[in-house]
Amino acid sequence: MSASVVRRAVCPGSFDPVTNGHLDIIGRAAGLYDEVIVAVLINKAKSSLFTVEERIDMLSEAVAEYPNVRIDSFYGLLVDYCRSQNIPVIVKGLRAISDFEYELQMAQMNRKLASVDTLFMPTNPEHSFLASSLVKEIATYGGDVSSLVPHLVLGRLLERLGR
Ligand code: PNS
Repeated sequence: MSASVVRRAVCPGSFDPVTNGHLDIIGRAAGLYDEVIVAVLINKAKSSLFTVEERIDMLSEAVAEYPNVRIDSFYGLLVDYCRSQNIPVIVKGLRAISDFEYELQMAQMNRKLASVDTLFMPTNPEHSFLASSLVKEIATYGGDVSSLVPHLVLGRLLERLGR
């Protein structure tokens, strides 16, 4: 009898807030791995629109359709979190070549630090221009972001921005 191995992966990020681009990657990762942990970075140095708790709430609602996805947060090095949770793989979406250089550097560093591998997933071209920072900027000035974020996020975004 062979012991069954749980294939586990992490999708890390700031998710301030989660976008349709993130959800595309999370959903596809959920199809490849037994368990996917979406890990929100607690970054005290970076100001955010939503608190970590709010981001976790929105993510939890947005991924409710995937039974093998759960949301968590982490502080410090991603590889330390991976080690503590027994996660051998980081899944990252690549939107364009401009993402690649920095992502490659981090992937190689994470591999060097803790033998944690990174799987790069090309984003759906429909989302290749999408970034949380742009969503926030556009929404701040009254632009329409309804096709860029899940409906539940849109409501919270407009409420937070007083629109
Ligand atoms: O959504 P973001 O802000 O682009 O996500 C970046 C994130 C959280 C994946 C990255 O900054 C990260 O892994 N930070 C944790 C700190 C760390 O491990 N730094 C060393 C990287 S080699």
